[in-house]
Amino acid sequence: MRENATSSSARPPVVRLDRVARVYRSGAIEVPAVRDISLDIPGGVFGVIAGPSGSGKTTLLNMIGCIDKPDSGRVEVQGQDVGLLADDALSDFRARHIGFVFQSFNLIPVLSAFENVEYPLLLIGVPAAERRRRTLEILDAVGLSAQAGRRPDELSGGQKQRVAIARALVKEPALVLADEPTANLDSVTGAAIVATMRRMQAACATSFVFSTHDARLLAEADLTFSIADGMLVP
Ligand SMILES: Nc1ncnc2c1ncn2[C@@H]1O[C@H](COP(=O)(O)OP(=O)(O)OP(=O)(O)O)[C@@H](O)[C@H]1O
Ligand SMILES: [Mg+2]
Repeated sequence: MRENATSSSARPPVVRLDRVARVYRSGAIEVPAVRDISLDIPGGVFGVIAGPSGSGKTTLLNMIGCIDKPDSGRVEVQGQDVGLLADDALSDFRARHIGFVFQSFNLIPVLSAFENVEYPLLLIGVPAAERRRRTLEILDAVGLSAQAGRRPDELSGGQKQRVAIARALVKEPALVLADEPTANLDSVTGAAIVATMRRMQAACATSFVFSTHDARLLAEADLTFSIADGMLVP
């Protein structure tokens, strides 16, 4: 783990992993994707999980994001041992506390940028007037006010990813997870997206954790976890 000077490691961790392991099984073949990883991610940081293709980044992020469960070990988010939550409670926990940004944007094609960003607030029952206020505010913050009425197929790759960042942040989650959010973008647009994430992380006091195998993006991070073959590299 490497910490830059701006890190705020005195805050309580937003993520705590305790000897987390995940093995994929297909027939007789077992692939140990994550092997006994323990780490703390403090609140309010911009953190990166770095590692080559196949090193276990997506597997790790999916377990932190409660999309997947470890075979062993404990995942805590915001002090909650998420392994203790039943399916409904886990979905609710994820909807309230964790935002996601994906490599392939994953916007809903038939909805406008505004509607895509508003959607997570619908899911957690925020009243209409407040939904509208918060959606417009966050679209403005990522520089997309003028594109609010456009559908994803009317936006550039970088604009789509900014919609996705706004959608992840609009519910003011404790944690935003982004799995290779720049992989489908050219390098200039990718750098701009990292800068947007960095700026929004600071403005929203949320913790961001994104994965990458692009070493150029690591300079922005407060905290870098390097993994190889499913293990932390010291
Ligand atoms: N559903 C699956 N079934 C079987 N093996 C899998 C599955 N998903 C991933 N793996 C294997 O687990 C290991 C870790 O994969 P993972 O997708 O987490 O890596 P990654 O670091 O995200 O890679 P990339 O940079 O290419 O996205 C790899 O060996 C991969 O082949
Ligand atoms: Mg991956």
